[in-house]
Amino acid sequence: MGWLSSLLWAFWYILPAYVANGSPVLVGGGKPIDGGRKWRDGKRLLGDGKTWRGFFGGVAFGTVTGVVQYFITPGFYGNLRTAVLLAFLLSFGALLGDLIGSFLKRRANLPRGAPAIGLDQLGFLLAALTLAYPVKPLTSSQQLAVLILTPFIHWGANYFAYKMGWKSVPW
Ligand code: CTP
Ligand code: MG
Repeated sequence: MGWLSSLLWAFWYILPAYVANGSPVLVGGGKPIDGGRKWRDGKRLLGDGKTWRGFFGGVAFGTVTGVVQYFITPGFYGNLRTAVLLAFLLSFGALLGDLIGSFLKRRANLPRGAPAIGLDQLGFLLAALTLAYPVKPLTSSQQLAVLILTPFIHWGANYFAYKMGWKSVPW
């Protein structure tokens, strides 16, 4: 396989994690996951930016993405079960990584929505890759490529969401 097709397959693989990470900005809102509770440091556990609706909406959209992907490229997954399981783990991992990121941001005294370079762009991806690995792994060069390129895609997507009026800040 040439490097370009290897790279494109890597992004095809990771797509449910992107969808899961991006959809809460549209479907999120309502009750925060931490229920307003605070950690020992007196700061919020996660903050108002992490809601149940965003979490489950993101997992649902990401998982459905995998179903659509299976019907486009069945050979890449082998069977529907693998495609759905992979998409679910990528989506759940992405949202879990996002929660861990917010937990760490609150501990670092960063308010909801404050940028944390590195954590915001890669936390979700590292968790998604880790959870999905046992079902179907990327090669190490594919992992490296998505880790290097994702921050740029993340910034581009957030700038777009800001321009569309979906987000109040461009990060
Ligand atoms: N969102 C949500 N539920 C989630 C994740 C995100 O409802 N589990 C929504 C929130 O409206 C959030 C927006 O998507 O404000 C953007 O997500 P993100 O940038 O991850 O949250 P921030 O508001 O920046 O909060 P934090 O500082 O905790 O990252
Ligand atoms: Mg943010």
